Amino acid sequence: MVSGPIIDARDVDYSLDVAGRPLHILRRVSLTVAPSEVIAIVGPSGSGKTSLLMLLAGLEKATGGSVMVNGSDLGAMNEDALARFRRHTLGIVFQSFHLIPSLSALDNVGLALEIAEPDLSMAQIRDKAAAALTAVGLGDRLDHRPTALSGGEQQRVGLARATVADLPLLLADEPTGNLDQKTGAIVVDLMFDLARRNNTAVVLITHDPALAARADRVFTMTQGQLTETPMAKTAAAKPAAAKTRAAK
Ligand SMILES: Nc1ncnc2c1ncn2[C@@H]1O[C@H](COP(=O)(O)OP(=O)(O)OP(=O)(O)O)[C@@H](O)[C@H]1O
Ligand SMILES: [Mg+2]
Repeated sequence: MVSGPIIDARDVDYSLDVAGRPLHILRRVSLTVAPSEVIAIVGPSGSGKTSLLMLLAGLEKATGGSVMVNGSDLGAMNEDALARFRRHTLGIVFQSFHLIPSLSALDNVGLALEIAEPDLSMAQIRDKAAAALTAVGLGDRLDHRPTALSGGEQQRVGLARATVADLPLLLADEPTGNLDQKTGAIVVDLMFDLARRNNTAVVLITHDPALAARADRVFTMTQGQLTETPMAKTAAAKPAAAKTRAAK
């Protein structure tokens, strides 16, 4: 990991050409996230949250401003460099899980690790993937395929996959959107625990203000503009405070 912020996005514009006319999706978005910081982004549907996540992941390119992630200037990188950057920098958790249906939980996680760390032996991959699944409480579901897992279990596989390679950044786009509230809270608990244990920075997009309030900082996206939301909260509202990490 490099020193400095894990995310340093400045004056980011993102617009698309739709039927010959520009559609402005993000307008002068700036966001700085420190290593191992956990932030949440809330905001109405269509406001640009996923678009920002795509830019931070290097899956789309900003049309203005600069996006630096883990010291890399994403605007200056070609597709190959961006693919390498993603492999070594970040894991993503999606609302709809995006697991490979023909692979077991173990192989879904193992495949992600193999891509991130191609020098590992098959035995090392198996051991690390099994450990990641055990860490999310699925040690007894290693051989289950996604269809044989509940929604919450599938998302825990998604979480194990996104964290198995021990990367500095985790991006989560409504990871609880397809889960009931209780299961969603369990998954987010796990996500924050894992992140804090591994010093992983997290960008969590959520519609649930109660989940967002558990991040270190909360931002609101409104019509493509991002603002930090002041948080008046007590220690009780934020059980796993940032201090836990600082104390390590
Ligand atoms: N490829 C595209 N072509 C045209 N418009 C797009 C495209 N991608 C996104 N948009 C538009 O950009 C805006 C922001 O979309 P985005 O998916 O970022 O919103 P969001 O905040 O994630 O919404 P939600 O909460 O519903 O997921 C929307 O109006 C959307 O229709
Ligand atoms: Mg979205």
